[in-house]
Amino acid sequence: MRVTITEIKEMKRKKEKIPMLTAYDYVTAKIVDEAGVPLILVGDSLGMVMLGYESTIPVTMDEMIHHSKAVVRGARRALIVGDMPFMTYHVSVSEALHNAARFIQEGGTQAVKLEGGEIVAETVRRLVGCGIPVMGHIGLTPQSIHQLGGFKVRGKVMEEAKKLLNDAQILEEAGAFAIVLECIPSSLSRLITEKLAIPTIGIGAGPDCDGQVQVISDILGLYTEFVPKHAKRYAKLAEEIKAAVSSYVSEVKSGLFPTSEHSYTMGKSIIDVVASEAKQSRCK
Ligand code: KIV
Repeated sequence: MRVTITEIKEMKRKKEKIPMLTAYDYVTAKIVDEAGVPLILVGDSLGMVMLGYESTIPVTMDEMIHHSKAVVRGARRALIVGDMPFMTYHVSVSEALHNAARFIQEGGTQAVKLEGGEIVAETVRRLVGCGIPVMGHIGLTPQSIHQLGGFKVRGKVMEEAKKLLNDAQILEEAGAFAIVLECIPSSLSRLITEKLAIPTIGIGAGPDCDGQVQVISDILGLYTEFVPKHAKRYAKLAEEIKAAVSSYVSEVKSGLFPTSEHSYTMGKSIIDVVASEAKQSRCK
């Protein structure tokens, strides 16, 4: 049975921390799911860590749906959240409904996430009203980096802190089942977490959120071009993969691979006949 939004909300009530990770493909989603992660985000961060874009802004709905399908096939138990890409939920509520429905119907995710506070509240209300669970996302919202002036911590000044608390409360009131708090001071995320009945999921928001989310490529040491301060590396996969690939290259070049152990055999009499017939046909 898949984890439900009720169970996720229940985890906050029981003071059980909620681990969440991103995944973008079948194999990783399967491993993450089997390791017991209850919430998986098909994040638009895939634009940077999987597709090599400079930001999340170029990511399209079709790319998100393609990756969501793979994640849903891999993870059988976790609740899967599809991240709505830039400008797929701002133009109109009906466009947002259409795109969110694509995540649920085509992508197979159980919920969607969208960035922004008060500005998206009406959209959140309509999506939830139509039966689509919504996760909010406030603080550093990467789809607005041009407006925000880069990847910076948010909510350090009084007006911004008040606005973030207000945005969180508005999103809760609009029906969001959880809210990501990205790159805000720990004391502010603690306050927001205390004020809300729904879970807060932090990334660079300190230890007091109800859950934590990380980009999988950051914690595995797979994406090395930029590692945020808030990411902890639990493995160095880029180094391991490079070492493994170098060994493969040198063994192929030197003839050490493949050995008989990795090869298939056939009866000698058969190959002798094939060889002799090939010789005769050349003589004709
Ligand atoms: O796209 C993403 O991976 C995200 C997380 C950083 C929360 O939005």
